Amino acid sequence: MSQNRSDALVVFGASGDLAHRMILPSLYQMVRRGHLSEPVIGVALDDWDADRLAERARDGILTQFGSVDEAVFARFKSLLRYVGGDYKAAATFERLRQALGGATRPLYYLAIPPSLFGTVIEALKAAGIAGHARLMVEKPFGRNLASARALNEELLSVFEEQSVFRIDHYLGKEAIQNLLYFRFANTFLEPVWNRNYVESVQITMAEDFGVGGRGRFYDEVGCVRDVIQNHLVNVLLLLAMEPPATSDSDDLSDEKVQVLKSIRPLREEDLVRGQFDGYRDEPDVAAGSPVETFAAVRLFVDTWRWKGVPFYIRAGKNLPVRATEVVLRFKRPPIAVFDDTDAADANYVRFRVGPEVLIGIGARRKAAGSEMIGEDVELAAVDSTADDMLPYERLIGDAMNGKRQLFTRRDASELAWRVVDPVLDLKTRPAPYAPHSWGPEEAMSGFAPPGGWVDPEA
Ligand code: BG6
Repeated sequence: MSQNRSDALVVFGASGDLAHRMILPSLYQMVRRGHLSEPVIGVALDDWDADRLAERARDGILTQFGSVDEAVFARFKSLLRYVGGDYKAAATFERLRQALGGATRPLYYLAIPPSLFGTVIEALKAAGIAGHARLMVEKPFGRNLASARALNEELLSVFEEQSVFRIDHYLGKEAIQNLLYFRFANTFLEPVWNRNYVESVQITMAEDFGVGGRGRFYDEVGCVRDVIQNHLVNVLLLLAMEPPATSDSDDLSDEKVQVLKSIRPLREEDLVRGQFDGYRDEPDVAAGSPVETFAAVRLFVDTWRWKGVPFYIRAGKNLPVRATEVVLRFKRPPIAVFDDTDAADANYVRFRVGPEVLIGIGARRKAAGSEMIGEDVELAAVDSTADDMLPYERLIGDAMNGKRQLFTRRDASELAWRVVDPVLDLKTRPAPYAPHSWGPEEAMSGFAPPGGWVDPEA
C-alpha cells in the first residue's frame, strides 16, 4: 500500500442523509472489494455510538442494494468508530484526536453544510490534527462567485490546495469518465470535433421525481445551482476541452480552466426558468417561492475550436423520464444528393450518461429496396457490464490515495460560478409547467438548438 495513502477516514455529518444514502453504503462496497481496511470515524452532533452508526449503515445498505452480506458487514463494522459532539466544542475534537490513535494522515470528509466548514477546520487546526491530513468537501461549493472565493480562502488558510478534494459526484460516474476516454482515445473524432462540423451540442438531465423531502435545501438552491453550475458544466468541459498534455490532474484542470475562461457569462436572454405546478405546496418550500425547478441555458464557448457553436443545457425535476444525455449534432451535408437527405435527423454522437451507459453514432443509410431512400440508424455501444461502482466509492478511494483527477481545482471551482453568477437569485416567477412534461412549453418555444431538443427515452 502506498505510503501516501490516508490511514483513517473521518466523516463529518455521519448521522446525516447523504451518509445514510451514499457514503456508508459506498464504504461497505469498498470493504467488499478489498479497497478499504482503515478505521472509519463518524462524527456528528447526535449522541450515538459505533453500534448505532453501524445500524444506520445497515439500513442504508439495505435501501441501496436490497441485501447485506453479513461477512462483509462484520468486517466493515469492525472499522467503525463514532465521536459525538458539538462542532463548536474543543472537547469534540479532543475525542476525535484520541479516536484517531496513531493515524497521521487522515482524510476528513466534510459532508456537512458549508456554513460549518470554517468552524470544523479551525477546530482541527486548534486540536493539532490538521497537519498532514487531507480534506474532502461536499457540494454545494458556495452560493456564487464571492462565497466560493471566501470558502476557498477559508479552506486554504489551514490546508494546502494539494490536500483539498472538492467533490462533484458526477465526475465519479463511469459514463462521465468514458466521455473523456472516448474523446481522446479515438483519432476519427478529432477532425470533426469542432466548429467546422458541429452544429450544436445539447445536454439534458431529466429527473422524473420532484424535490422529495429536500424542500428546505432545494428552495435555497434551485436548478441552476443544484446541477447546472456543477454537474452539467463539468460534462460540457469534458466535451469542449483541448487534449491535455498528460492525464495528470493539473494538466486536466489546466485544459478545463481554459474552457471555463472562454465561456461567456450567462445573460438573461440565454436562460429559461420553469417551476413545476405544486412546487410551492411542497413541505419547507416558501409560499411564493421564485426558485426554478427547471432551467435551460444557452452557452457559448469562445475558443478557436468552438466559436459560434451553441451549447444548450436543460435540467429539471418532475420531467417525464430519468435520464441524462448528451447529443452532439453535426452539420448537414452541403448538398442533398438524395432527395430525402435533408429530412434526416441523423449525423450525431449521443452519450447516454445515466442511468445506463451508452455511446451512439447516428447516421443515414439506404433502406433496402429499389428506391434511393434512406433511413436513420444508430450504431451504439451499450455497456452491458453495468457499473456497480458507486461514484462515491471511486471518489473516496481516490482521495484516500491522494489522486486528484476527479476533483475540482480551486480556479475551476470559482470560474464555474462566474458563468452563472449574472442569473442567480432572479426574483421573477419562473414559467409554470405541468409535472411530467418537458418543462414550460410556451417559454421554451424557440429556445432550442437548431433541429430541436432530443428528448431522452426512458
Ligand atoms: C445532486 C442533486 O447533486 O445530484 C440532486 O443535488 C440530483 O438534486 C442528483 O437529484 C442527481 O444525481 P444522480 O447521480 O442521481 O444523477
